[in-house]
Amino acid sequence: MRDKYSFIESLLFPYTRLNKKILNVKLRQKTVLITGASFGIGEALAYKLAETHTCLILVGRTTSKLNLVKEVILKGGGKAEVYSADLRNSNELDGLIAFIKARKEGIDIFVNNAGKSIRRSIENSLDRYHDFTRTMAINYNAPVQLTLALIPILKRNRGHIINISAINVLLAPAPKWAAYQASKAAFDNWFRCAAPELNARKVATTTIYLPLVRTRMIEPTETYKNMPSMKPEHVARIICKSIITRKRTYKPWWLIFGELASIVLRPLWEILITKQIEKEQIVSGN
Ligand SMILES: NC(=O)c1ccc[n+]([C@@H]2O[C@H](COP(=O)([O-])OP(=O)(O)OC[C@H]3O[C@@H](n4cnc5c(N)ncnc54)[C@H](OP(=O)(O)O)[C@@H]3O)[C@@H](O)[C@H]2O)c1
Repeated sequence: MRDKYSFIESLLFPYTRLNKKILNVKLRQKTVLITGASFGIGEALAYKLAETHTCLILVGRTTSKLNLVKEVILKGGGKAEVYSADLRNSNELDGLIAFIKARKEGIDIFVNNAGKSIRRSIENSLDRYHDFTRTMAINYNAPVQLTLALIPILKRNRGHIINISAINVLLAPAPKWAAYQASKAAFDNWFRCAAPELNARKVATTTIYLPLVRTRMIEPTETYKNMPSMKPEHVARIICKSIITRKRTYKPWWLIFGELASIVLRPLWEILITKQIEKEQIVSGN
């Protein structure tokens, strides 16, 4: 079924066709680990993959929601297991790693999707160092620790790591996004460094650079309410397609213009954005 998009959205996010037959073949007797499978993109992906009857390991903190997702999948004839863990907690992460290592067949695909976003100005962050450690813990430390632990299994299975990233990491840095953007960029860079080594060992790597996606993650940001955004179900199809193609990246077609503008217009952007913040300061009296 086509996604319900406005005219602008359908231009920005053209329909992604998915060959279900090939996907079924690719996923026969495979296991997919999805972090952050309780909500948003991870949840939509779990339902999409469940159609192939591949075995899913669903990870997140909200056990009740994970169990609900599992129930829906089992009712539809799919296969799913739940592992609840706060991935910022090293001991809980170790528990997940031990759980995966104890499985005879291990895993074949690791979708690094769990993530946290924070939008806050530096001025409002002076007593909130924890914003920075928390975003780094989930967006950088956890995927690094998990990837390192899973490499031997993925090498054995000629597996695939799919990283769910954001277009922002390829664009000029934006004010108020220091915590989120730095932590997503850190893992993006780590993963790009590791990719050639992994590929040489037959582990495929894909980074999905996403624009705005209509999930609970963007709900607190008022300015996003009326902005064009992708549907999580559309993202799920893009991820499934990357399982078939094993391409290194997915980027929206228009991102190249943003990347070029980020280089060419950066000095102008910095002047304008500074002036905008000065104006806001005058209005708010801070
Ligand atoms: N939405 C967007 O506009 C957008 C754009 C670009 C990239 N992305 C990326 O897409 C990914 C998914 O985001 P989403 O939009 O689907 O957000 P979401 O609806 O808030 O889902 C985030 C998922 O991550 C899990 N999670 C968060 N912290 C966790 C922790 N400490 N331990 C274990 N699981 C944790 C959450 O589960 P629990 O709460 O149950 O733990 C949830 O399942 C993120 O990596 C995000 O950076 C999103």
